[in-house]
Amino acid sequence: MKRILVTGGTGYIGSHTVVELLQAGCEVTIVDNLSNSFRVVLERIASISGRVPDFIEGDIRDRAVMEAALKHSQAEAVIHFAGLKAVGESVEQPLKYYDNNVNGTLVLCEAMNACGVKKLIFSSSATVYGDAAAPYREDMPLGRATNPYGASKAMIERILEDQCIADSDWSVGALRYFNPIGAHASGLIGEDPQGIPNNLMPFISKVAVGQLPQLSIFGDDYDTPDGTCIRDYLHVGDLADGHAKALKALATPGYHVFNLGTGRGYSVKEMVETFQRVTGQAVPHVYAPRREGDLAEVWADASKAKRELGWSADTPLEKMMEDTWRWQSGNPNGYRG
Ligand code: NAD
Ligand code: UFG
Repeated sequence: MKRILVTGGTGYIGSHTVVELLQAGCEVTIVDNLSNSFRVVLERIASISGRVPDFIEGDIRDRAVMEAALKHSQAEAVIHFAGLKAVGESVEQPLKYYDNNVNGTLVLCEAMNACGVKKLIFSSSATVYGDAAAPYREDMPLGRATNPYGASKAMIERILEDQCIADSDWSVGALRYFNPIGAHASGLIGEDPQGIPNNLMPFISKVAVGQLPQLSIFGDDYDTPDGTCIRDYLHVGDLADGHAKALKALATPGYHVFNLGTGRGYSVKEMVETFQRVTGQAVPHVYAPRREGDLAEVWADASKAKRELGWSADTPLEKMMEDTWRWQSGNPNGYRG
């Protein structure tokens, strides 16, 4: 497939995927409302790939915008990143999350139907497994999400699966991401959370660059080898490559689910130690109480993606740390200059 519409393409994972697609020779049109990203990302994408993606500033909940974007781009498939992702905010403002994520996806799919575009890759999350025991396999039943963000992902998956059952021309790839970290090796694009980061890796890098005084490690009394939680961290470049490979699976109609993770986990302590060793930067840290809703161990059974897509996330943790630091130290204020 050559012509791809990417929603949320100026965001963290979207921008890395757009680079991958442009470098593979695809024609890319981005639709993003810039609610959690910056226009300058487009220039950075162009510097890396030597090509400028088409950009439409618009909201996925606007049916007219989405139909116009699909027609203008002549897209053969859509990669759908646009969504809100802050777990804590979703607990405080559930309606905002269900409207943006669930309603936004419904409007997108209606626009796709109207334009005869029936191939979609969706950004799902390991959070849909609930509190099942790791490693997670795609054929496990979905768990009960502990927050509206997670529930919105599970609802969207159900909607997309039902649509594939109802219309055999549809094909959907639901990609369940584990914990993407790192940045493009150029240091030109990376993760730029607004305010105080919720996630571990941006928090570590903001402590290292001197913008936050110390990291709190949430809990050291879990039933894990060093007492801190274990997650499956994968390089965002590997994740981007996973999207390019998953597009090929859309040749077969139906609903396809893939875990995108490395298949191995690291503890919070290991993450802090590895970052300090690789970058030579100190990360002052203290131990704090457990964070509500955290699971002790989350990692993927990543064998299905390897078997069926020929994809695996092989970038070593050290390189994820190096790339995170190159991005953070070169752009201490992210895209804000
Ligand atoms: P991000 O916030 O950096 O990117 C999302 C992009 O979507 C932003 O550019 C934002 O401006 C845009 N957007 C949001 N709502 C929109 C709307 N209504 N219309 C148009 N554009 C809109 O997030 P990310 O980390 O790149 O995540 C991308 C997707 O992957 C999200 O759906 C997220 O839930 C999912 N995901 C992310 C992670 C992670 O750890 N980053 C893990 C699992 C799943
Ligand atoms: N952590 C800390 N201190 C911090 C931040 C995080 O100790 O300041 C710990 C957490 O307790 C957890 C680990 O670092 O043990 C990873 O935390 P993240 O917030 O980076 O990642 P999570 O696995 O908790 O969450 C991610 C996504 C969510 C998604 C969830 C499940 O960010 O959007 O995976 O898929 F819902």
